[in-house]
Amino acid sequence: MKIELLSSNPLKHATPALVIGCFEDARDELYNACDAALAGCLARLAANKEFSGKVNTVRMIHTLAKLPAERLLLVGLGKKAELDDERLRQAAGNAIQALRAARVASSASTLHLAGNPRTALEAVCEGTLLGSYSFEQYKTKNMEERFNFEGMTLLLPPKGLNRKEAGAMIGTAVAICRGVTLARDLVSQPGNVATTGYLAETARELALRHKLACRILEMDELEQLGMNALVAVGKGSAEPPRLIVLEYRGAGDTGRPVVLVGKGITFDSGGISIKPGAGMEEMKTDMAGGAAVLGTLEAAAGLGLGVNLVGIIPTAENMPDGKACKPGDVVTSLSGQTIEITNTDAEGRLILCDALHYAQKYRPTAMIDLATLTGACVVALGHEASGLMGNDKRLIERLKQAATRCGERVWELPLWDEYGEVMKSDIADLKNAGSRDGGCITAGWFLKQFVAKTRWAHLDIAGTAWCDKARPCIPKGASGVGVRLLIQFLRAIEK
Ligand code: BES
Ligand code: MN
Ligand code: ZN
Repeated sequence: MKIELLSSNPLKHATPALVIGCFEDARDELYNACDAALAGCLARLAANKEFSGKVNTVRMIHTLAKLPAERLLLVGLGKKAELDDERLRQAAGNAIQALRAARVASSASTLHLAGNPRTALEAVCEGTLLGSYSFEQYKTKNMEERFNFEGMTLLLPPKGLNRKEAGAMIGTAVAICRGVTLARDLVSQPGNVATTGYLAETARELALRHKLACRILEMDELEQLGMNALVAVGKGSAEPPRLIVLEYRGAGDTGRPVVLVGKGITFDSGGISIKPGAGMEEMKTDMAGGAAVLGTLEAAAGLGLGVNLVGIIPTAENMPDGKACKPGDVVTSLSGQTIEITNTDAEGRLILCDALHYAQKYRPTAMIDLATLTGACVVALGHEASGLMGNDKRLIERLKQAATRCGERVWELPLWDEYGEVMKSDIADLKNAGSRDGGCITAGWFLKQFVAKTRWAHLDIAGTAWCDKARPCIPKGASGVGVRLLIQFLRAIEK
């Protein structure tokens, strides 16, 4: 999709659809002018309560040549005083989804004029790009009915911004959404395609495009190094486990990096502790943390962020097999701590604990991991927020701030020592699964045992990586969660 900026009067601009934002409790000049041109049609819609500007509502009308625009798409912005970037992003997402549904191939938008001039343009571009996503690679029927949205023109630069600044904001949104799209594509791909090797190839290709350093540790190296927890999870599969490492240097050769670690289970059958069949297909999404790390590197490099970043993705397929690890097995992790594997379905923390320990050799200023780690997180927070835990107040605060700004919600859970009681094993240092109670937290507590004194935060994205029903900026399916949050976090610390 193309996004352009044009200084043109919306009332004189010919387009298949003119998009305007409407408040519930205020009318602006453009609204009134459109209403007048359409002989009071908008006032009639409001009087009939057919469209009153509430959030998450849109209304398309034909102008019948009363305006140069063929259609007018009214987009609800809610109460004027409540308008923020996230609301604008969602309005833009709703608009593009309505245009796509009506098979209108291009539009001219004025949504950005409603918000904060410093940020609104970026938010509208972001919402539009995010809301227009679709994954259709495996649909072979009715190709002629496939719909491709061509482009959006943003009418009038926002007050106080020159063309160059406005153009840069579009570029920023495009680069960020490229990262989100990469993450969504990876998560959408089925498990027979997005294997550990596929993730490694994707990382290599990304490194080539952006001149990043890339190293893939293969099975023999993992064994030599002693990453036995990762190996234990991967050895029941015909697809060998790997450790993917990507390095982006946006802040010179010497600065200590931020390290991002993403869970890359390409399919989670549960292993010998096998999962029930119903819904198991969703476990192709168990590499969403790894996908978010790749997407974040894509976006960070595309933006040329002035930070040093290392992305680490432990990747494996969790399968039952004659060679698979079994409940009761004990492994010595890279850190030297021994782990009794009491449940092979608690595999995420096993691959992560070795990756988190490995990551410390980069002496990170901060380390953030993302993982579809626990069903318990979904029980606790549903699909509205990712679980956030960690050992550093400031890092947690910064992530909360980034979350508020970008609209990817997080909610903090405690990691008190007492939670660790159930993770103690009779025969080893730790066991990988405790009781069901507080399962999201006990998983976080387990990871904490492997980060030593490094500033660290953990995001459990089990409930947010995949959307069963469409949202304004997330068509049904993969959300790409984590990319925008991390980019927002990195942009804030870059300054
Ligand atoms: N990948 C799952 C967690 C998950 C569940 C992600 C639902 C997305 C949606 C993880 O590996 C898992 O199986 N966790 C177990 C841990 C338990 C055995 C301690 C769980 O949550 O049941
Ligand atoms: Mn599992
Ligand atoms: Zn899993």
